[in-house]
Amino acid sequence: MCGIVGYIGDKKATDILIDGLSRLEYRGYDSAGIAVFNDGDICVEKYKGRLAVLEEKIKDKDISGTVGIGHTRWATHGEPSDTNAHPHTNYSQNIAVIHNGIIENYIKLKEWLMKEKGHSFKSETDTEVIAHLIDYYYEGDLLDAVYKAIDKMEGAYAIGVVAKDEPDKIVAVRKDSPLIVGIGEDENFIASDIPALLKYTRDMYLIENGEVVLLTKDDVKIFNEFGQEQKRDIFKVTWDVESAEKEGYEHFMIKEIYEQPKGVSQTLNRRLEDDKIINLDGIKITKEDLERIDKIYIVACGTAYHAGLVGKNAIEKYAKVPVIVDVASEFRYRDPFVDDKTLFIAISQSGETLDTLAALREAKRKGARILSVVNVVGSSVARESDDVFYTWAGPEIAVASTKAYTTQLVAMYMIALNMGITKGTLSTERYNEIIEELKNMPEKIQNILDKYETTQHLASSQFNNESVFFMGRGLDVEVSLEGSLKLKEISYINSFAIAAGELKHGTIALIEKGTLVIALATQDKLYDKMLSNIKEVKARGAYVVAIAKEGNTEIEKSADTVIYIPDTFDELTPILAVIPLQLFAYYVSVARGNDVDKPRNLAKSVTVE
Ligand code: M6R
Repeated sequence: MCGIVGYIGDKKATDILIDGLSRLEYRGYDSAGIAVFNDGDICVEKYKGRLAVLEEKIKDKDISGTVGIGHTRWATHGEPSDTNAHPHTNYSQNIAVIHNGIIENYIKLKEWLMKEKGHSFKSETDTEVIAHLIDYYYEGDLLDAVYKAIDKMEGAYAIGVVAKDEPDKIVAVRKDSPLIVGIGEDENFIASDIPALLKYTRDMYLIENGEVVLLTKDDVKIFNEFGQEQKRDIFKVTWDVESAEKEGYEHFMIKEIYEQPKGVSQTLNRRLEDDKIINLDGIKITKEDLERIDKIYIVACGTAYHAGLVGKNAIEKYAKVPVIVDVASEFRYRDPFVDDKTLFIAISQSGETLDTLAALREAKRKGARILSVVNVVGSSVARESDDVFYTWAGPEIAVASTKAYTTQLVAMYMIALNMGITKGTLSTERYNEIIEELKNMPEKIQNILDKYETTQHLASSQFNNESVFFMGRGLDVEVSLEGSLKLKEISYINSFAIAAGELKHGTIALIEKGTLVIALATQDKLYDKMLSNIKEVKARGAYVVAIAKEGNTEIEKSADTVIYIPDTFDELTPILAVIPLQLFAYYVSVARGNDVDKPRNLAKSVTVE
């Protein structure tokens, strides 16, 4: 989604804005722009296309001002174009605005401003309305005009605003879209995400929903929705700057795939006491709580939803509580069975996915206790939950989620194991066995990564398929869904995942000579059934690539290629089986010449509905 950066200080703003925006490129965008105070005016430059286009257009222009705002736009209202790009201004260009989110009542506001107040508009965007609205209320005090404007605005937004007559100020607002403030020496920043500012400062203020910020070069004031000043502790970012860099890898995605042994090990070890007891410090779900809870909802989007499907299996197996898994965008409108006996688990890498956040709020409103599994510390989902289990994947930059998924799986296993042992529905012996095996996972993942060439080779011969089918049984269905999503989002191949037993109920009609079928056969008790399903598609001409556990070689007689994963308990195979699927998607995308880290039409964190 859109990226926001603002700078106020003594340095050349253009350089800092463009550098900050370049670190938000992973969020996905189709145009970029800046507004900088220059020679007594607000100089606005904005163009369709990559940041490089903007850089090229301004390289010979003298824009040396030291205060400005910058934006990368992911189109929602109006096509990607120079005109629709941000920043947007009022008619006389003395107010400029950048915006992430959607103003839901913008048509009503636009009509009011046009018909009753005589304003005229240039773009199709909702954002331009904000600039005009602030202009309408502006009487020499930007902060006051912003307060009056946001009172009329409905929807989700983070905005940054500058006014020509107050060149020593930036005003920013956060409502349901992420916004942080970076604190420097004689300089301050705003941004939609931490990586944009890491090069300049690690001291941040996390802005809360409904808050308005007034920045000058040597001060930051935060106000609540009623205009009362708020105290805020500094949030110190502990990541290395390098963790948000490619460090020699060709793409963030492959770097992040290779970071999985470390992420899994950190997620596990942060919560293991004496190497074997899961310590859910701060998450006080007691035996009594668990006995009271009569159902669990796991709600998430995309890859996080797929992690939730595996989590359901683990919780039902170990803790014997019924679990409903739902996609956040549907949950909200379903009138779900949530009450004070419900535990609601939200899973989100970014912690800023709007649908997940809205679902969480809905569940909270209905009385549920909220536990979230989140990667980004201090994100909205984390802050609005009763309890948080942080995954320790480190920053995930590539749009295609990889290390977030495997660390989310580990988190879900640990939550399930803890519930099982606390409730007494899981034996100590089995609990210990699973913990010991989880500890082996980093090494087993590494083992698969070391054999990457088999998958790379497969991708080099299979990258031209028009469609690909993933199939499996039991937990392999959940992993098939994730493998299919990974492939489609970065290769643009029409891929599809199905429970193998469902094939004969319709989908087998699509199998013809040469169709690529990726068959997951990692579940011992379903292995023979999978062999039969593989034979069925082979008989219709499919080319079958199977994923199986080492030692289960019978499958070589039916499949064309077999990729082996190290042996493990059936319930833990998702952590391993997904690795070759991630590698396959990556190498196919590279072979097709796609922009792996920034696939078309997609954004890293979906902060609009
Ligand atoms: O940040 P979140 O985990 O809430 O994001 C959820 C999905 O948008 C995300 O997993 C998406 O499906 C990825 N592009 C998948 O690779």
